[in-house]
Amino acid sequence: MNTQVRPLDASDFAVAKPFWIEAFGAHDDEGPPGPGRRTWQVEVDGRIAALGVDRELETWFGSHRVPTAGIAGIAVPAEHRGGGHLRPLFEAMLDGARERGALLSGLYPTASGIYRSLGYAPVATFDHVAVPTHLLAVRGDAAPVRRADAADLPAIAAAYTAWARQHRGPLTRDGVSFPDPAKAYTDETTGVTLAESSPGQVTGYATWDRGKGYGAGAELTVRELVALDRESYVGLLRTLGSFASVTPETVISTSTASEWSGLLRADQTSVRTRRTYMVKVLDVAAFAHLSPAAGLSAELPFTWNGTSYVATVAGGQVAVEPTASAARTLDDAAVSMALFGAADSATLRRLGHLTGPADDDAAWDALTAGPSPAIANYY
Ligand SMILES: CC(C)(COP(=O)(O)OP(=O)(O)OC[C@H]1O[C@@H](n2cnc3c(N)ncnc32)[C@H](O)[C@@H]1OP(=O)(O)O)[C@@H](O)C(=O)NCCC(=O)NCCS
Repeated sequence: MNTQVRPLDASDFAVAKPFWIEAFGAHDDEGPPGPGRRTWQVEVDGRIAALGVDRELETWFGSHRVPTAGIAGIAVPAEHRGGGHLRPLFEAMLDGARERGALLSGLYPTASGIYRSLGYAPVATFDHVAVPTHLLAVRGDAAPVRRADAADLPAIAAAYTAWARQHRGPLTRDGVSFPDPAKAYTDETTGVTLAESSPGQVTGYATWDRGKGYGAGAELTVRELVALDRESYVGLLRTLGSFASVTPETVISTSTASEWSGLLRADQTSVRTRRTYMVKVLDVAAFAHLSPAAGLSAELPFTWNGTSYVATVAGGQVAVEPTASAARTLDDAAVSMALFGAADSATLRRLGHLTGPADDDAAWDALTAGPSPAIANYY
């Protein structure tokens, strides 16, 4: 059996396409290789045995941009499943990503078990939350709202970026993988409503799709709801709530901390679909993108993948250097979840991801506290 792993070029694409259609359904195939998009294949005796796409992305980590390999289009033709082709595929894809400086890799699994043994761990969820529309008519001081037009796109993108920089996980939505940044706000939307809590300053927006029909069964879909202050949330939610007579249900795309739900007068929300976002840390240098409190000062030794390091935290910065040995041992899941603040040390210990002395637990938890994990792009 002759097995090789190699990037797919444009001429291979027609052969690969049916396998994505087979995996994801009739109209859900991957695009051809192109800028910021590298497709890999495992070939066994000249036939495709596994496919995967590595997209060149960046993740906001507070105010830092972290180069990220966004993995998509993982497919194994039915007859090759169970053949163990994913591991060599991921090794090649992630080595290639490391070469261009990626420190993280993210993906949305169809089943998280597929990627756990490859070192990915859940750090956030991307949910569609259903809410009775009348509950969106929230009380309180509201920012003025207005309908956006094309000239507002830069201000909308700036509001997204301001929100994203308050989190760990959202994508930067610029660079090679976003040739048309406006698409994120205009695709499949009937309207974009802006909130301006100060005159002329976009402090929030909702991109929404009115859907078909009215009355029982009709739904308003909110593709994105971003607000930088309470008044903007109130203004946007109330505007969405004004659809109550025609769309009794509203479905809002939201991430792990759906903070707006705390403004509703009754808690009748339900998660209709949940997509788990999993991350694998590709390089320990990712820790340098944490932004600890300026007053936190610590030397934190740890072992990951058989190599020991010490994280030196001082003056709001983190530096990671190799060291001789360290008893505190983190597995891949512990490294990802700690880096994103998705689990504290006690949780990681209960789940068996962290072992060794607990003396540094409080300092680690202080180091990894900070912007909440969130994700706003499905890919
Ligand atoms: C999912 C898919 C890629 C797995 O391919 P495969 O050849 O069976 O995978 P492997 O044999 O290399 O197994 C890799 C790991 O995934 C696990 N796995 C495979 N299918 C799984 C499933 N449906 N649910 C949970 N875990 C699964 C295996 O147990 C194995 O875990 P382990 O290493 O801990 O033992 C393949 O079934 C497929 O193409 N499915 C349709 C498309 C799809 O779902 N793609 C994933 C998109 S995110």
